Amino acid sequence: LASIEVDVASLEPGMSLTVKWRGKPIFIRNRTPEEVEAANAVQLADLKDPIARNANLPVDAQATAVDRSGGKGKENWIVMIGTCTHLGCVPLGQAGEYNGWFCPCHGSVYDTAGRIRKGPAPQNLAIPTFSFLSDTKIKIG
Ligand code: FES
Repeated sequence: LASIEVDVASLEPGMSLTVKWRGKPIFIRNRTPEEVEAANAVQLADLKDPIARNANLPVDAQATAVDRSGGKGKENWIVMIGTCTHLGCVPLGQAGEYNGWFCPCHGSVYDTAGRIRKGPAPQNLAIPTFSFLSDTKIKIG
């Protein structure tokens, strides 16, 4: 299937869901205010990969907290391809030094916006094409 629709009505803040899209795991998370705040507090200059890697934005868009999220007004949401940009393992959620994602294969550490902060992975976790069909339904692809 080219695209899928995911019902996220049951995802309270702090809850995540993993769905499959084109054979890849897609992480969908309703972030807590603390997680959003932690992402907002990061300076672009401190990022290993300053590019948003967001298929919904221009290729040179920067990895700001909002451009890594569901967008303005939907900053609590994060939708990402759950494949480590090092060698493709599936990172663990709410783990690692930044309480974002942690890849157990070789120790890459991603923050609460899925941005690579430490370890061998070269890029932020990729954000697929997605849109909100309603407040509780996300279309991926
Ligand atoms: Fe994730 Fe190597 S595959 S750190």
